Amino acid sequence: MKSLLIQISVMKKHGLLLVIAGLLAVCDLQSNQTIQQFRYVGLMKNWNDAQTYCRERFSDLATIQNSANSTKARQAAGTSKFWIGLFNGTWKWSEDRTRSLFTRWSSSEPGGGNCVTVSKYGSWSTNDCEELHLFLCYHGESD
Ligand SMILES: *[C@@H]1O[C@H](CO)[C@@H](O)[C@H](O)[C@H]1NC(C)=O
Ligand SMILES: *[C@@H]1O[C@H](CO)[C@@H](O)[C@H](O)[C@H]1NC(C)=O
Ligand SMILES: *[C@@H]1O[C@H](CO)[C@@H](O)[C@H](O)[C@H]1NC(C)=O
Repeated sequence: MKSLLIQISVMKKHGLLLVIAGLLAVCDLQSNQTIQQFRYVGLMKNWNDAQTYCRERFSDLATIQNSANSTKARQAAGTSKFWIGLFNGTWKWSEDRTRSLFTRWSSSEPGGGNCVTVSKYGSWSTNDCEELHLFLCYHGESD
């Protein structure tokens, strides 16, 4: 009987430890989940300089993965046309070189240019990378 009680109390201790370990794991996960934020930059730059600017001061040029991102990006940029981190024929993101799955091309796009701007309506167009545009960076951890 006594040993059973001890066993139960050991089990309880173990359970508590598991709970604590679980909480710690959750806290650890959350501490790494930096929320991504878009940072609109009101400077006219070509795509490469915009990318450098974003990488030096924030994380990179903005990546738009879904329509929620797209809405946020448009809100951040107001009515201006801006560069995002999408570039070059294969349409990969500056951030991690992954191919874009979500796209929002204007009709008749993608066209000839190698770098991508977003219009005030949220649709995407290709532009010559040397053109000067305002741009959108993002800040935070990428997953
Ligand atoms: C979270 O951050 C800690 C230390 O800052 C690191 O050791 C751990 O690998 C990170 N976990 C993830 C899932 O990135
Ligand atoms: C974009 O969407 C992803 C996936 O839902 C999310 O993790 C990220 O924080 C969003 N970026 C911004 C800037 O809201
Ligand atoms: C796009 O790709 C071409 C050929 O693959 C390359 O010469 C060019 O530098 C690339 N442009 C960018 C912005 O990376």
